Amino acid sequence: MYQRNTIDISRIEEQEKICREIYEIINAAETRPLAMVDTYGCQQNEADSEKIRGYLAEMGFGFTQDEFEADIVVVNTCAVREHAEMRVLGNVGALNHTKKAKPGQIIAVCGCMVQQEHMAQKLKMSYPIVDLVFGPHELWRFPELLHEVLTKHKRIFATAKSDGSVAEGIPLKRDGTVKAWLSIMYGCNNFCSYCIVPYVRGRERSRLPEDILKEARGLVEAGYKDITLLGQNVNSYGKDLDIGTDFADLIRMINDIPGDFLIRFMTSHPKDATEKLFKTMAECEKCAHQLHLPVQSGNDRILKVMNRHYNRAKYIEQIETAKKYMPDLVITTDIIVGFPGETDEEFEDTISLVEKIRYDAMFTFIYSKRVGTPAAVMPDPYTREDKQKHFDRLTEVANRISGEKHKEYIGSEQKVLIDGETGRDEYNLSARTNGGRLVHLKGDPSLIGQFKTVKITDGNTWALYGEME
Ligand code: 5AD
Ligand code: SF4
Repeated sequence: MYQRNTIDISRIEEQEKICREIYEIINAAETRPLAMVDTYGCQQNEADSEKIRGYLAEMGFGFTQDEFEADIVVVNTCAVREHAEMRVLGNVGALNHTKKAKPGQIIAVCGCMVQQEHMAQKLKMSYPIVDLVFGPHELWRFPELLHEVLTKHKRIFATAKSDGSVAEGIPLKRDGTVKAWLSIMYGCNNFCSYCIVPYVRGRERSRLPEDILKEARGLVEAGYKDITLLGQNVNSYGKDLDIGTDFADLIRMINDIPGDFLIRFMTSHPKDATEKLFKTMAECEKCAHQLHLPVQSGNDRILKVMNRHYNRAKYIEQIETAKKYMPDLVITTDIIVGFPGETDEEFEDTISLVEKIRYDAMFTFIYSKRVGTPAAVMPDPYTREDKQKHFDRLTEVANRISGEKHKEYIGSEQKVLIDGETGRDEYNLSARTNGGRLVHLKGDPSLIGQFKTVKITDGNTWALYGEME
């Protein structure tokens, strides 16, 4: 039986003490040292970068987006597809110039990509400018690792294999003031045959409800209006804790926190999204009617070789149940095209599923071979061009449906949360509907952070346009 490993709070306090020691070292100079954190990949990675920034802020760093100005550059990487890895390697390579211009610059590379042994090796051998490499399991002790780099003047690699742990009390420096990420669990146990995540992020570990609630209360008190609960598979929240609290119960507890805010969550796995969850979503007035339910494929054979543990019929049934409770539910999905051996006919099943469900938005990917996963050694007779053709066709269908769905909003009134500026003159504000659809508006930036009812005047594939009353 897997034992949940928690990092004792005294060890996090120790890290904060090291932050103060680093403060003494780096703040001896006249100008305030600056840090740049560059994040690739999913929201979980965004949330991890907020912890890295939290530690850096405690060390006394200011922040910059300019790598030439930065005294430390932290690149938080993704491993989910080859494309993301290539971008990371290209950008890390380009830091050669910045380090030449600023020889004392520290370069750290962390996150999922470096948790793969071959990638850590590659950085060690071919990227001598990199001073520090650490995987997701070592993030909680980033101060200690950086201290070692600074005082011992040697390169540090911390990427040992691990099932992972849960660390509470790491300082956070959040990016926004309206929307916040809230990690409720880490890791993944599913081992979908194409996916690297379970190998790099370890086993599923849930945070305790009281720790999550404390953080959620803090967010509401600080004025956050849109809280997204994060996990690789939020539907299995609590299974490892054995305290009788599941994900639906957790939503209800957060919904009970007084205040005007929205609860969103991602990502759900169809194999264990329950009717109880949909019923709870419908009953909790703060829970957004939004569901990201990655289907990956509409074909039963492909779903089986993907090791997804559901079939097309079960998926459709789930969506129907969810819609029974929430007729206005906004549904989005992820789809992989070109899984090894996927035939034209099998791909057609994905198209027909998409036409049936009519997703509000879709994230589509061409299969990318990941070293060490079962799919990497499956026969794959189709060419990149075959896959690209399927991909283009799916994108076309997805865009058409999103456009049609957005047109259906025209003339309706929607309660939206105004969350930022677009940087454009005409429609200068951005907002989100309850279901998470993007709305462009005109108005005063002082409205950011407020809920408003707006009339939708136009819509295209990517966004809605609205007017305030
Ligand atoms: N190739 C392509 N897409 C992938 N995803 C995960 N692994 C791969 C891979 N090897 C996609 C899935 C997942 C999303 C986050 O990324 O669709 O839901
Ligand atoms: Fe997120 Fe997965 Fe990429 Fe890691 S590999 S950053 S968990 S998408």
